[in-house]
Amino acid sequence: DEATKSAARAAMDDVSPKSASLNGGTTSTETTVSITVVGASGDLAKKKIFPALFALYYEGCLPEHFTVFGFARSKMTDETLREMISGTLTCRIDQRENCGDKQEAFLKRCFYHAGQYSSEDSFGELSKKLHEHEGDRVANRLFYLSIPPDIFVDVARSSSLAASSANGWTRVIVEKPFGRDSESSAELTRGLKKYLKEDQIYRIDHYLGKELVENLSVLRFSNLVFEPLWSRQYIRNVQLIFSEDFGTEGRGGYFDNYGIIRDIMQNHLLQILALFAMEPPVSLDAEDIRNEKVKVLRSMRVLDIDNLVVGQYKGHTRGGVNYPAYTDDKTVPNNSLTPTFAAAALFIDNARWDGVPFLMKAGKALHMKGAEIRVQFRHVPGNLYKRSFGTDLDLATNELVIRVQPDEAIYLKINNKVPGLGMRLDRSNLNLHYADRYNREIPDAYERLLLDAIEGERRLFIRSDELDAAWALFTPLLKELEKRKISPELYPYGSRGPVGAHYLAAKYNVRWG
Ligand code: NDP
Ligand code: BG6
Repeated sequence: DEATKSAARAAMDDVSPKSASLNGGTTSTETTVSITVVGASGDLAKKKIFPALFALYYEGCLPEHFTVFGFARSKMTDETLREMISGTLTCRIDQRENCGDKQEAFLKRCFYHAGQYSSEDSFGELSKKLHEHEGDRVANRLFYLSIPPDIFVDVARSSSLAASSANGWTRVIVEKPFGRDSESSAELTRGLKKYLKEDQIYRIDHYLGKELVENLSVLRFSNLVFEPLWSRQYIRNVQLIFSEDFGTEGRGGYFDNYGIIRDIMQNHLLQILALFAMEPPVSLDAEDIRNEKVKVLRSMRVLDIDNLVVGQYKGHTRGGVNYPAYTDDKTVPNNSLTPTFAAAALFIDNARWDGVPFLMKAGKALHMKGAEIRVQFRHVPGNLYKRSFGTDLDLATNELVIRVQPDEAIYLKINNKVPGLGMRLDRSNLNLHYADRYNREIPDAYERLLLDAIEGERRLFIRSDELDAAWALFTPLLKELEKRKISPELYPYGSRGPVGAHYLAAKYNVRWG
């Protein structure tokens, strides 16, 4: 009933250790954090979450007192959970000392509780176990919902009603997808907000935790040379490119209900675009940054089907190896029209970006794996060198490339004189290549985001109005695609994708980088 719910919500408010001792009867001012990975038996938990938690522990970033609990329906013991995750833990290659000891010490802090996702009893039992480890410390609790989206609200309900912290904060990390259009996303938000306050919900978009995405604001706002050029006056177009050299292997069931536009564009690429194009925030405070992101998203034109190309990979044989078609996946219907590739032109109708095409391209089973931002600058007005030497400088405009992954780098393509007595120009790169410049491994995005959630830093998580604005841009287009049953252009597995993407770019006088 409402009274129980509001009592649960009140109990979940962030409270300081001092008020905790007044409210919860806690005498200790020591704090502890209990991290529960809900869906611990799943792919993401194994691949990303447990390894990231270990990496934080290894780096000394977790609080002195912490416990990690896995929660899922699968029957496992503490020992089997430890066995399952032990094979996934790795130490930084640049500082391997004590690796084995650290792994062992970390595993001793990991436990498992089997239960049902919608059962308050199961979460009540979990809560008791958490409490045994927390003792009389101020107990902060973080729940990571690494489960299919249709049970997000069930878990938010049962965990908040039965396992919220009595005297510390309770936060919930929610994985994507946050709905599949404006309506379902709003419904999910309404469902979560019955049990959680907005400042307890940490909607994760792991691209925001990538090193070079976080660096975007540093690049723009702490260097004099970029920000003055960051507008329609000097920038001709911006490209946001995501490609994977493998298909939907193993995730076809999930993917077919979403497609590449929802899986990558509406979240990962749009988030990068928002950070790239937003106005300078008042401060680095989470709310100031997210306010600017919402503003820029709301200044964008709703996507138009004429500015979209969709594709789907088909089977291909190369070097004697057969690569499957998307529809060869047993969990995908034979007649699926779900796009595994999309290219789109987007526009921001504000003073800074009026008329500048932002081109997005995302695809699976392409010829390479990578994610990058390409900024193509305008021509040099009255270029002396072009006039005097008639060189083919039409194409040689400056381009700034931010290579998010792999092999992180930021480089600027410039025209340069080839050394010698003559006057010949070539294109060279001013190159900040991370592997050469920085002598340390780059942390995984999940490490940064988990640490932020523990520290209550919400800057890199998605606020609900941001999510609404993002869905508002894509929903009409997604509905039209589905209503008109538009067939994707087929492209061979391992190719560069459908040729339609080049026509789309050419329409705006752009060549993909
Ligand atoms: P899984 O499909 O592996 O599911 C995680 C766990 O949830 C399973 O181990 C299972 O645990 C439980 N589960 C699965 N299906 C159901 C069901 N129908 N009803 C109830 N419980 C179920 O998911 P992932 O680990 O791949 O992903 C978790 C979340 O993260 C999802 O929301 C996904 O979209 C998102 N995500 C995943 C990525 C990835 O690379 N895997 C990348 C980005 C986001 P048990 O049976 O033991 O209860
Ligand atoms: C996930 C998508 O959000 O991001 C996957 O659901 C995709 O389809 C993955 O493979 C890519 O992440 P990364 O960090 O490997 O580039």
